[in-house]
Amino acid sequence: MPKAIGIDTGGTLTKVAYLDEHNELILTTFPSNDLQTVKDWILNNPDIEDIGVTGGRTEQLLNVIKKMKSIHYIVEFEATIKGVRFLLKKEGHHFDRSMITNIGTGTSIHYMEGNSDIRVGGTGVGGGTLIGLSALTTGITDYNAIREMAAEGNREDIDLRVRDIYQGMDTPIDGHLTASNFGKVGITEDIRHQPEDIIATVQGLVGEVITTLSIQYAEEKNAQHIVYIGSTLSNNEHLMNVIANYTRTKKHTPVFINDHGFSGAVGALLNITEYTIV
Ligand SMILES: Nc1ncnc2c1ncn2[C@@H]1O[C@H](COP(=O)(O)OP(=O)(O)OP(=O)(O)O)[C@@H](O)[C@H]1O
Ligand SMILES: [Mg+2]
Repeated sequence: MPKAIGIDTGGTLTKVAYLDEHNELILTTFPSNDLQTVKDWILNNPDIEDIGVTGGRTEQLLNVIKKMKSIHYIVEFEATIKGVRFLLKKEGHHFDRSMITNIGTGTSIHYMEGNSDIRVGGTGVGGGTLIGLSALTTGITDYNAIREMAAEGNREDIDLRVRDIYQGMDTPIDGHLTASNFGKVGITEDIRHQPEDIIATVQGLVGEVITTLSIQYAEEKNAQHIVYIGSTLSNNEHLMNVIANYTRTKKHTPVFINDHGFSGAVGALLNITEYTIV
């Protein structure tokens, strides 16, 4: 087992990153509402000496693991960008300037230029919103169930598109664009919809709000590429498609990278190790 690990204790998920004996990155997650399990895992790995920590729930984690090991704290945004830079490099991406949109429980948006970076803003609409709204509207709370149902669902009868309004006329903007998320419900007064259609529409709302905001910042900063990261995208092709299509419609380039959900944990690990890509 490793001597050093990085832990990102987020609002929903706790991400752990370390290197195995072959210098391969090993990544694992725990629910943040069960930090005792993280402690047990650490206790079961007595070789661990140094722990790099980051994320909003770090203090709650330290209450559970303090005095056990040597702890090295790095602020969340710094860790995330450190990790993203590493993962981008690992996959051969080189951008002079780009936006980084981290879709965690909430969403944080950063601008990266050369070696500098700054958090430009964010929105409370994120992965927590996807789960919360899906749960309230359908009773389904499990992320994987939500992800699978969204892929099966159809937004057509719930969302109002531009072309639905401009019937028989030329549309002033792309008719396929959403004019009003959930907007058809109030007009048709049809409130009976299948859970998968509702969840697909919730995911559309979440993805479009996040993309709209990311694009506005990208235009302000004159950045072509928007790198979307965060566990909300994990195995979630439907959400990635919503985001990628809308980003491309707005003439920007969406970028997705492997292990994107672990950027913070990787950053916290890099902060205490000399590991670099050869
Ligand atoms: N196994 C899972 N259990 C719960 N949510 C999951 C799971 N896998 C992916 N998700 C999604 O990922 C989101 C959390 O993403 P992430 O781990 O990047 O955020 P976080 O770091 O916990 O939160 P924040 O950075 O906002 O504090 C959840 O809101 C949910 O939509
Ligand atoms: Mg996070």
